[in-house]
Amino acid sequence: MCGIAGYIGEKDGLKIVLDRLKLLEYRGYDSAGVLFFSNTGAKLKKSKGKLNVLSKKLGSTSALPLLAVIGHTRWATHGIPNEKNAHPHTDCNKKIFLAHNGIIENYQELRQQLSKTGHVFKSQTDTEIIAHLIEECCKSNLSFEKAFETALTKVVGAYALAVVYTDEPERIYFAKLGSPLIIGVAEKEYFLASDPTALAGMAKKIMYLKDGQRGWLSASGHKIGPTRPKMENLNLSPEQAQKGKFPHFMIKEISEQPETVRDAFRGRLFANRVKLGGLENVARELEKIKRIEIIACGTSYHAGLLGELLLEEIAGIPTKVIEASEYRYRDNVLSPMTACLFISQSGETADTLAALRKANGRKALTLGLVNTVGSAIARETKAGVYNHAGPEIGVASTKAFTSQLSILNLIALFLAKNSRKRKLLARELNLIPEKIKTTIKDGGKIKLLAKKYQKYNNFMFLGRKYNYPAALEGALKLKEIGYVHAEGKAAGELKHGPIALIDKDFPTIALVNKNSVYEKMISNLEEIKTRGGRILAIATIGDKKISKIADDVIYVPKTLEPLEPLLNVIPLQIFAYYFGVARGHDVDKPRNLAKSVTVE
Ligand code: M6R
Repeated sequence: MCGIAGYIGEKDGLKIVLDRLKLLEYRGYDSAGVLFFSNTGAKLKKSKGKLNVLSKKLGSTSALPLLAVIGHTRWATHGIPNEKNAHPHTDCNKKIFLAHNGIIENYQELRQQLSKTGHVFKSQTDTEIIAHLIEECCKSNLSFEKAFETALTKVVGAYALAVVYTDEPERIYFAKLGSPLIIGVAEKEYFLASDPTALAGMAKKIMYLKDGQRGWLSASGHKIGPTRPKMENLNLSPEQAQKGKFPHFMIKEISEQPETVRDAFRGRLFANRVKLGGLENVARELEKIKRIEIIACGTSYHAGLLGELLLEEIAGIPTKVIEASEYRYRDNVLSPMTACLFISQSGETADTLAALRKANGRKALTLGLVNTVGSAIARETKAGVYNHAGPEIGVASTKAFTSQLSILNLIALFLAKNSRKRKLLARELNLIPEKIKTTIKDGGKIKLLAKKYQKYNNFMFLGRKYNYPAALEGALKLKEIGYVHAEGKAAGELKHGPIALIDKDFPTIALVNKNSVYEKMISNLEEIKTRGGRILAIATIGDKKISKIADDVIYVPKTLEPLEPLLNVIPLQIFAYYFGVARGHDVDKPRNLAKSVTVE
């Protein structure tokens, strides 16, 4: 996601901050900005695009020593990537400047309240409201420190903040809640950054801030409250620091899923309603739709298959899913009152984009479910929802998939009129991030299983109903990362042909949760057993029967049937990851594959 860097000390803070931001580039960004002080006062410079555009704009400028410098790389969430939406943002009087990483859930409410008291907003971001909110709190004759603290109590959401007040240019104020922020310490200098990557080679000591901690830094000291973080040694190369404690981006992104799923729900999922701001401007058209077509490729297509089941079962809307590469060349009938939903992590996939242009040409109501803000698909769809999952660097899509599933659930709830299942589903969705966390904790066991199965070159992945698309996704992950043959099948189809493949060298990975099709799945597994097939089952915690049939079992927590894929896919991703690692593959950049398929 976004990157924050700050410096206060005797050196040229501008160069230091720009260099730190460069090290945070891997987090993904589409615009950048800095705030520093020169002889003529505070200077704010921002630009769309990469850091070299910003550096060119700055030329040979340097910052005054001992005064605050903050910088930011923005990965757009609220508002397209442009100079106005780039951070730092400022208040009406241009005295408060701030860089933010996170999402402010109640920004629309706050924006309305602040507008009524005369505040004028220059960007479309959620961040800008914080600058105006602090400005408003300053009006009650509070010290800046107190005004900052008061403003934070009014904000709902997640934030890492670096704030500069021009009346106190020798300080950088900061606060953390839900988004990462660390402080680096060296001789008479302090650094602020989103992660240790930015500080490797600069700071010898580091403090990882905890949620709720806030304070300020100056060249001669610092204040942190209400509790104090531990000071730790920093012995990392920038390369190691980028992936944090993880050896590869793929496993890092797998591990991020409790947070990315939570971020998908943030400000959208409430006990008795779902709010999807991006669909509001087409709400009237959506009310009239009679059909939905989902169009996507690869993993996003698998998410679409689950979307089909959710939209039909929860919202009662007939839905069809088509691979974008097929859609673009078919003479398909577009019935009136059909919405076309395009799902894409990158927002740039050539086939999906071509299909979208075809649908736009036919005047369909086109919607996007996209992770990359401002991407072609996001721009060219009439309305849509962003994932807010942060950049995905590993070529194999992992966190984008669970984020897509989470949002498809929200869309189904949003469109559901009188579904009895609605409340139940909304309640259970809120529990999913914790259940994903529990599943990830089994990583060690899954690693051993991946090693055990590493010798096989053929795999069958089976599921029924909601777990059928999850089986397809599990098979795709293993193909991409393990370079082995993996077939994803609806378990009921087995006896119509694929069962001929089964023998002792062709193991099956079965998604067999305690649900409406449990007994059917068990029968399928018995058929496999009879033919000497080995079985690795993903099953529900507490299921005693399954261990008598399967050779190995990975247990996942109990959840509602439509949500099972959100949990089941986690062990499948981890299995594929360790399988690829065990075979010595470049798991982040598997052979023959590209992250964004921008050619046909
Ligand atoms: O960026 P998109 O979601 O449009 O990409 C679609 C596929 O290319 C992508 O999901 C691909 O299948 C991944 N490598 C799967 O891990």
